Amino acid sequence: MLVDTHVHLNDDRLFLHWKEVVRRAKENGVDSFFVVGYDWESSERAVFLSNHDGIYSIIGVHPHDSSNFELSMCDWRKLINSKTIGIGEIGLDYYKLYSPKESQKKVFSEFIQFAKEVKLPIIIHCREAWKDLLDIMRAEKAWEVGGIMHSYSGSYETARALSNWNFLFSFSGPITYPNAKNLRETLKLIPLDLIVIETDAPYLPPQPYRGRLNEPSYLPEIAKKICELKNVELERFSEILKNNLRRVFGDIL
Ligand code: NI
Repeated sequence: MLVDTHVHLNDDRLFLHWKEVVRRAKENGVDSFFVVGYDWESSERAVFLSNHDGIYSIIGVHPHDSSNFELSMCDWRKLINSKTIGIGEIGLDYYKLYSPKESQKKVFSEFIQFAKEVKLPIIIHCREAWKDLLDIMRAEKAWEVGGIMHSYSGSYETARALSNWNFLFSFSGPITYPNAKNLRETLKLIPLDLIVIETDAPYLPPQPYRGRLNEPSYLPEIAKKICELKNVELERFSEILKNNLRRVFGDIL
């Protein structure tokens, strides 16, 4: 059975019929879901969804939303319940720059501090901001909580630095895309015991489903691709994934 470590069942497009989406995923061998928030409302929805079997919540503010965000960590703390397993998705995105760099950096730092207070791992989104990202993680001692580099797109060198900081690397739909040769080369170099998988649904559908809305039932396509690249059996791979997650998140699964 597989774990989708990053799925937005809280996005309107999936939330409207989330029970069917989860049922189809379970039929395809996906039995656990980390629902990731990106602002206050989506984080509340993640917590609501996590009242159900196999669903866990991750709460936080995406760099895109950092400029229209008022921090009151008191409220965020109240949102946490026994099935809140992480803080995210947080990070930096200089590719789209929907929020100014300064506000992205501020919100990212404050959420790392918060994660340390509540002792939860962090789920990181990074696009074209690796230097500033690593500087902030170093300054805030992000290794004290560790976490997941979501939909990893950095270099192998960056992965090596982060692997000493208690971070896992999550791969998603793009690993199946014909033009993603560099990403596959990076994946081949990263040891299996640092890898996890995700759909990031409703975004980034794997190759056979491109052009459609992504959903967690497509996760096995990503698993199959990685098994092929890493030359490992699917059953063994799913055991490795669970062990990797236990190292960072504890005995939740
Ligand atoms: Ni996401």
